[in-house]
Amino acid sequence: MRAKQELLEKLTQRTAVIGICGLGYVGLPLVRAFLKVGFKVLGFDIDDRKVEDLRAGRSYIKHIDFQLLKSAIAEDRFVPTSDFGQIGEPDVILIAVPTPLTRTREPDLTAVEGTCRQIAAGLRDNQLIVLESTTYPGTTEEVCRPVLEAFGKSAESDFFLAYSPEREDPGNPKFETSTIPKVVGGLDEDALEVAIAVYATIIERVVPVSGLKAAELCKIFENTFRAVNIALVNELKLMCQRMGIDVWEVIDAAATKPFGFMPFYPGPGLGGHCIPIDPFYLTWKAREYDFSTRFIELAGEINTQMPYHVVDGVMRELSDRRVALRGAKILVLGLAYKENVDDLRESPSLKIIELLREKGAEVLYNDPHCPVMKRTRQYDLGMHSVELTAELIHSQDAVLVLTAHKAYDWDFIATYAQLLIDTRNATRDVKARHNNIRKL
Ligand SMILES: NC(=O)c1ccc[n+]([C@@H]2O[C@H](COP(=O)([O-])OP(=O)(O)OC[C@H]3O[C@@H](n4cnc5c(N)ncnc54)[C@H](O)[C@@H]3O)[C@@H](O)[C@H]2O)c1
Repeated sequence: MRAKQELLEKLTQRTAVIGICGLGYVGLPLVRAFLKVGFKVLGFDIDDRKVEDLRAGRSYIKHIDFQLLKSAIAEDRFVPTSDFGQIGEPDVILIAVPTPLTRTREPDLTAVEGTCRQIAAGLRDNQLIVLESTTYPGTTEEVCRPVLEAFGKSAESDFFLAYSPEREDPGNPKFETSTIPKVVGGLDEDALEVAIAVYATIIERVVPVSGLKAAELCKIFENTFRAVNIALVNELKLMCQRMGIDVWEVIDAAATKPFGFMPFYPGPGLGGHCIPIDPFYLTWKAREYDFSTRFIELAGEINTQMPYHVVDGVMRELSDRRVALRGAKILVLGLAYKENVDDLRESPSLKIIELLREKGAEVLYNDPHCPVMKRTRQYDLGMHSVELTAELIHSQDAVLVLTAHKAYDWDFIATYAQLLIDTRNATRDVKARHNNIRKL
């Protein structure tokens, strides 16, 4: 039997123990947030290396401050483990495991189902289980609930079940876990109430919605909104290139409108674990209802073509200088999918490097955040970052900017580059002083 009041009191008194499944980009900031307000946290991950790294105080996500984690481990307030035998200990279990696509671009809920199975084996009365992974509407009720209930416990009478989408924006200097409003939906009113109480301890504004599906769809809608708008602006960029108009100037001018416009910026393609993937969760689910999500499909089409446009553009710029792409030396700047982070997941840089190599170019890369090109689900290019010296820059036929990390000194790079191709408008402040910069 579940007893809401008892759980609410434990939360108020900070004696509740919080369990986080998945100690990655989303899980670790959550661990930190709960530690900060005084809870004991158990962190579960199937990746033994992460657990070992945490225990040894080794950081594996650059932008996350490990100091608090280290001291909490020393005080036994944070216990990272791969032993799911301890899953009965936490009062609240948050699930932040990956939700990628399969090779055929269908939702891959293996990690979510696996975690739920591990929880189900040790589930006890009065625990609150919250799924945080991004997924299609219906997942918590249709996929998680039956697995969690497999050993006879009921989500209506024994434990609480909720969904709360994660909005973590790694590396964002303006917002952190506590200042990003958190949407929450519960299976029933009591589940919603305890889930709100949990998040209210770490987050300034909790936004309840009427149920699990509304909360699930809210997250996918947010990311679809981004994917569609990025596609729009990418298409605009291609048109501007034909017309000889500077798309970034147009966007900056449009952004001065104080209402009804929000700027999005073009780039070499979509990246990250969310925007290129999440909308397809919705497309997949919509098919069950004979509904086709045409905006998502179109945006996907445009965004996936962007790396190819970049490679074509590089080829054009080189041939203007009587250099063939085959055999050309190209230095890529920026491997991560966005600036100032070390996250390579779905990064268009990887696709572009692969395409350039296929066409016979000799490609090097520099990324201060990614000294070694880690293996990803799709790529294992076995490269490492080269040092950015004047000699190296000058020895390349082209320097191609794919990620505008703050660490780059654009004046220095432009001074030594023979040709600097910029897909991010990173060189906007130095462009006037150099005639070798081309925007793409
Ligand atoms: N990264 C972001 O910025 C971000 C933002 C919003 C939402 N999300 C969503 O949050 C979820 C997690 O993303 P992430 O970026 O933290 O992923 P991640 O890969 O950084 O971390 C996930 C962790 O879960 C672990 N894991 C996998 N299966 C497990 C299991 N069965 N039990 C326990 N641990 C398991 C992995 O080993 C990994 O350490 C995804 O659904 C993602 O779409 C991510």
